[in-house]
Amino acid sequence: MTEVGIDAIEIETGKLKLDLAETFAPAQGEDPGKYTKGLGLDASSLPDTYEDIVTMAANASHRLMKRKGLEPEDIGRIDVATESAFDNSKPVSTYVAGCLEQVFDGDFLHANKGERKFACVAGTQALDDAFNWIRAGRNQGRKALVIATDTALYARDDPGEATQGAGAVAMLIDENPDIVTFEPEQGFGSADETDFLKPNQQFPSVDGKRSMQVYLARMREAMQDFVRNGGDVHPENFAYVPFHTPFPGMVRKAAPLGYRHCVRGTDIEEALAEEIGPQPRSDEFDTSEEFLDAITEYTKKLQETDQYREWYERAVEPTVDISSQVGNWYTGSVHLARVSGLFDALDAGRDVTGKQLLVASYGSGAQAEIHAETIQSGWQDELEAMTIFEQIEDRHDISFQEYEDIHDVHNHDETTDVEPMTTPHEEFVFDGWGRMGERQYRYVE
Ligand code: HMG
Repeated sequence: MTEVGIDAIEIETGKLKLDLAETFAPAQGEDPGKYTKGLGLDASSLPDTYEDIVTMAANASHRLMKRKGLEPEDIGRIDVATESAFDNSKPVSTYVAGCLEQVFDGDFLHANKGERKFACVAGTQALDDAFNWIRAGRNQGRKALVIATDTALYARDDPGEATQGAGAVAMLIDENPDIVTFEPEQGFGSADETDFLKPNQQFPSVDGKRSMQVYLARMREAMQDFVRNGGDVHPENFAYVPFHTPFPGMVRKAAPLGYRHCVRGTDIEEALAEEIGPQPRSDEFDTSEEFLDAITEYTKKLQETDQYREWYERAVEPTVDISSQVGNWYTGSVHLARVSGLFDALDAGRDVTGKQLLVASYGSGAQAEIHAETIQSGWQDELEAMTIFEQIEDRHDISFQEYEDIHDVHNHDETTDVEPMTTPHEEFVFDGWGRMGERQYRYVE
């Protein structure tokens, strides 16, 4: 069976930086520690006046296609995952293709284009669709472009405002890929939930605390399903465990629950039992409250053990590095976590070729998905070609007044006249509205 997976990745961050400790916390009258320590976030990336989900997606895709020497005819499928779409009919992928056709000679006339929606898990679902399309042999030698792009903005004064972000991750899916191949086993945890949603509105309605509980519950179910479907979860078998990262503090809460599950029935569980006692099992308790108390107590002790700490610091902590600097990118977030983990290996000079990633995706509403990936021999060259850290460094650090202005610019209910805070260069920009209410774009040399 042909191996299929991610051959190349390019990332585009919003050009503005909102420093949460220095700029946001003082204006909110909050202790900076809430952001940096509690949520684990230093800054949010935000889009300048001329940036949006299309420009970020098109800029990432343009860079990816140029670097890989691709022409539009090489691409048989473009899927955009987003929860920030501005059109209920025309998919964002058509806008992105239109942008790219401005700079390439050919066109995407025969590429199947679509848009994937299920909150933040849609990016992983779009990867899945591309994998299945290629595995089914319907690609005719062509590749798929999957783009996760979002402007993850919350209404002003919503608690979610602390976790905002904006950016796009473009991924090329192909046979015999350079970065990772997808393993076939998957696990799902999926239920009709009302915790975070956007019923025909721009900014989400969020029950923040509940959304965190729903995240943990669906992840647990997905893990159980993954194991039932034959997936291996032994903690030592994975170089990194990238989670969907709305903010690093969420991953800090999910990781011990995942580890607890992964060590069951292993030599690690036995060693831990000697130190902190055996893992409580639900059938040993008369009531669910008693079980919950016991498992909460056990999980607290687990987090203090050397085994857990070493695993967390090696396999999980490095995956939240980029997120801590850019915030939540919704559909792109777990794909940033994958890249972040691989950069850790690159920086440490560690060859992780042939090792696996356990990828834990999540979308509110709500669904978690877990699958494994195997790292391929071209991963170092691909990572070295990426510019994400330079882009993060180059962002324009905005004042609180500028933040208020830029939030209004991206608020569909406001009419504003705010000047760009950065100067576009060799990139796609938003260029005003067309006669049918469409958004228009042009390439700036
Ligand atoms: P909040 O209520 O403003 O924050 O909102 P808090 O008071 O709970 O504080 C946050 C943490 O900082 C807490 O840590 C505090 O103790 C700590 P915890 O107790 O939870 O471990 N803290 C401090 N630590 C050190 N020094 C200090 C200090 N002060 C406080 N001085 C909330 C937090 C996450 C609820 C809010 O930001 C929110 O609503 N966010 C949006 C929803 C969200 O991100 N949910 C996550 C799960 S759902 C998901 O991931 C899906 C999503 O990506 C969307 C999609 O799928 O499409 C969101």
